[in-house]
Amino acid sequence: MTESVTVRVPAKVNVQLAVGAARPDGFHDLANVFLAVGLYDEVTATPADTLRVTAEGHDVDQIPLDRTNLAARAAELLAARHGIEPRVHLHITKDIPVAGGMAGGSADAAGALLACDALWSTGASRDELLALCAELGSDVPFSLVGGAALGRGRGELLTPLTVGGAFHWVFAVADGGLSTPAVYREFDRLTAGTDVPAPEADPRLLAALESGDATALAAVLANDLQPAALSLRPTLTATLEAGTAAGALAALVSGSGPTTAFLAKNAEAAREVAAALLASGTCRQVRVADSPAEGATVL
Ligand code: C5P
Repeated sequence: MTESVTVRVPAKVNVQLAVGAARPDGFHDLANVFLAVGLYDEVTATPADTLRVTAEGHDVDQIPLDRTNLAARAAELLAARHGIEPRVHLHITKDIPVAGGMAGGSADAAGALLACDALWSTGASRDELLALCAELGSDVPFSLVGGAALGRGRGELLTPLTVGGAFHWVFAVADGGLSTPAVYREFDRLTAGTDVPAPEADPRLLAALESGDATALAAVLANDLQPAALSLRPTLTATLEAGTAAGALAALVSGSGPTTAFLAKNAEAAREVAAALLASGTCRQVRVADSPAEGATVL
């Protein structure tokens, strides 16, 4: 019998996040260009008497360890669909910033799903796993597939994208997280009374990804949630400015924030930007990572 299964799952940055008006179900239609980056959480699934979650790493005191944890919900959902009991211990080793706008919770859900699927030999198809991911959250399907993809709908309907080379990123981790629903509510408040256009992927951005051209990508990076994140967390402006002053090609808030992302020309420039950001005192921690990265992978 299998002792345990460990799955590694990447973080993401949104190189374009075009947000439409709120839908009747409360979600927003998106044109969401996801890029997986090489910062990873690991989820280990081990047979146990009952469902149990433990975690180690930075800020894990801020994640719930009960059945509200998205990884626990993933295990319960998979078990329920296959008529089995979720008798599993999930251990999460966190390296993705918690509540940071880098899909850490979604990564843990995708990781738990894949790990339990392997542990229980459910024989679920890739499409079934993707459908379960979409039930768990808008970003979870992308955490499973990784690479780069355009997400439509609320972000869960994925079309894979071609990436022609490695992009070098620096991420500045802020103090404390931001709640994604709160950032979307702030987006609604800021755009109230305006005509919010239907979200569309920018063809120049897709071309820049395909060519692997960092300068071209830097020119078109766009996040419609950025004004809302900055409104809730005004100190992020200083972080963005510090990274740009240090030579980043471009700076933006990652997803709903508060992590900020800086695109660098090459690996050496990324290290310089990281050092300058840390020295600026405008963030708590910096991370350097390349993209694209592989999706959820059984180790
Ligand atoms: O899908 P997920 O559970 O990750 O979404 C968390 C929250 O983010 C939703 O409850 C909603 O408030 C907001 N959201 C949204 N539109 C999306 C995705 C998320 O309004 N496309």
